[in-house]
Amino acid sequence: MHCSSLFTNTRLTGFTAKQVVTLQPIPLSSSHSSNSSDSSDSSHSPPNAKLSWPTLIKWVASTLLLSLANTSVSFAEDAGNLYNTPFDINAGASYFEKQCSRCHGFDARGNDEVGAPNLTGTLKRASSSAGIYTILREGISGTAMMAVDPKVPDSQLWQLAAYIESLSREAANFAVNGSAEAGAVLFNETGECLDCHMLAGRGGRLGPDLTSIGSELSPDELALALLEPSAEVAPRWWSVSLTDKNGVSRTGLRMNEDSFSIRIMDADAQLWSYPRNTLSRIVRSEESTMPSYAAHFDEAQIDDLVAYLYSLRPETTP
Ligand code: HEC
Ligand code: HEC
Repeated sequence: MHCSSLFTNTRLTGFTAKQVVTLQPIPLSSSHSSNSSDSSDSSHSPPNAKLSWPTLIKWVASTLLLSLANTSVSFAEDAGNLYNTPFDINAGASYFEKQCSRCHGFDARGNDEVGAPNLTGTLKRASSSAGIYTILREGISGTAMMAVDPKVPDSQLWQLAAYIESLSREAANFAVNGSAEAGAVLFNETGECLDCHMLAGRGGRLGPDLTSIGSELSPDELALALLEPSAEVAPRWWSVSLTDKNGVSRTGLRMNEDSFSIRIMDADAQLWSYPRNTLSRIVRSEESTMPSYAAHFDEAQIDDLVAYLYSLRPETTP
């Protein structure tokens, strides 16, 4: 059985597991525990003096290769980012998860407490991959945004820049078939969307904020999100099912985890923190907790919803 179906079921039938509560909900703020065990890629660090000649030669060779890569990259700046294939964007995404998500969030939508901005819309300080690259190399002085470890190769930073750019595809103004007005009515009247999603400060926390979703996803991607939610789920929205040593289970969205504990948000948006040593089973699911609307709406209604969601851009929703 998939966790996500478990999760959806629990949501529909009410959270009966509540009756056997063994742990206290924790306040929201403690879900952002500091996680400074931030190890960076050290494969390009210079060898220390005691190392043998072959190692040193290998290091010199790899450094030379790196500077060659650098040359082609400064050339790339004129040509745009050459590291922007789907492979690069994926590599950038996994690096982002390791090194950046603790401040900017798994979904890159920022964290008010740290003051780390949302990176999925229009950026304040950069309008191109090259601009993002410069921020990563130099940091933003006087802020928590530090330069990336100088040992991290350029190619990796360009991949990261490509990933960030991929998050905020500038509205290319695709034509849409449906009616945004009709879609707004469906969105608000099914009631359900706002149970999980926030829009302009109103709604739930069990799904991504949709305030500017129109500048983040194309109409096709929006339709896919409604019809096949599990096709692509960002790690931020993976869920876990935890069973403690008394056999009591709870399912929720994975908030964060470290070697000692794991935190989840259940279907009622309650936060739970479990020390790992109290758990007998952890089952992860990379499926979406959002139900598919393929059977719920007909094709014309999906078109209307897509038209509405696509109209949600920073310009139209201040
Ligand atoms: C310690 C927390 C922290 C970490 C880690 C961090 N950032 Fe930031 N980042 C910030 C803060 C705070 C700002 C806002 C600085 C300002 O403009 O005042 C910022 C700003 C930025 C900006 C500029 C946003 C804009 O609107 O112009 C980009 C791009 C960015 N970060 C990317 C990254 C990437 C990529 C990583 C991972 C390599 C990363 N950050 C890691 C805290 C962090
Ligand atoms: C049970 C909670 C829930 C409900 C109800 C729900 N969603 Fe979602 N939605 C999610 C979650 C969680 C995600 C993120 C995982 C994924 O990509 O499916 C998501 C993703 C999305 C996305 C993609 C967002 C992105 O940033 O990639 C869109 C668009 C969306 N939902 C629209 C809707 C609309 C419109 C409705 C109502 C018709 C709705 N959702 C109902 C939980 C929900």
